Amino acid sequence: MNRSKKILPGILIILIAIQFIQPARNKNGQVLPTAISKMYSLPENVQATLKIACYDCHSNNTQYPWYADVQPVRWMLDRHIKEGKEELNFSEFGVYSGRRQINKLKAIANSINDGNMPLSSYTLMHKNARLSAAEKISIIDWARKTADSLSAGN
Ligand code: HEC
Repeated sequence: MNRSKKILPGILIILIAIQFIQPARNKNGQVLPTAISKMYSLPENVQATLKIACYDCHSNNTQYPWYADVQPVRWMLDRHIKEGKEELNFSEFGVYSGRRQINKLKAIANSINDGNMPLSSYTLMHKNARLSAAEKISIIDWARKTADSLSAGN
């Protein structure tokens, strides 16, 4: 028996075994009182775009694609969700200090302006999360205005 005949079945067994590891989903199905939509006026079109393009990694409710059940893909998705939520969680936006909220709103405008968000690995698989010029302008406008009114203390 040559080496590859031993290694390939081994890899197959590992691939099958890891399919049984299914971590808990990032999905609480609730809109918390700290959600950004409960705290600030959020035009419907902006909220709809954020939901489609950002909430999968930046909220407590991810819409999982079918391949999320396939390992090791799930681990990669989970890492993005964990890191994304650590940086910015729209579901718990109200927990941040006033200063942090202002900084996050500015970072949202900048990340879209620079084309850094949503992540390109995400828009590759989620075509509807590719933002049109008009969608970008609406989010940037809203984020800057909300930051300004928070800075002005109202
Ligand atoms: C596929 C997951 C994913 C999606 C979708 C996504 N992000 Fe992110 N986002 C991340 C990750 C991971 C980080 C942290 C690492 C980094 O900055 O690249 C991040 C970081 C950020 C930051 C930086 C926060 C800071 O304080 O510097 C902002 C702002 C942001 N995202 C906004 C958005 C917006 C707005 C959208 C939707 C238009 C979006 N993201 C969509 C994964 C995502």
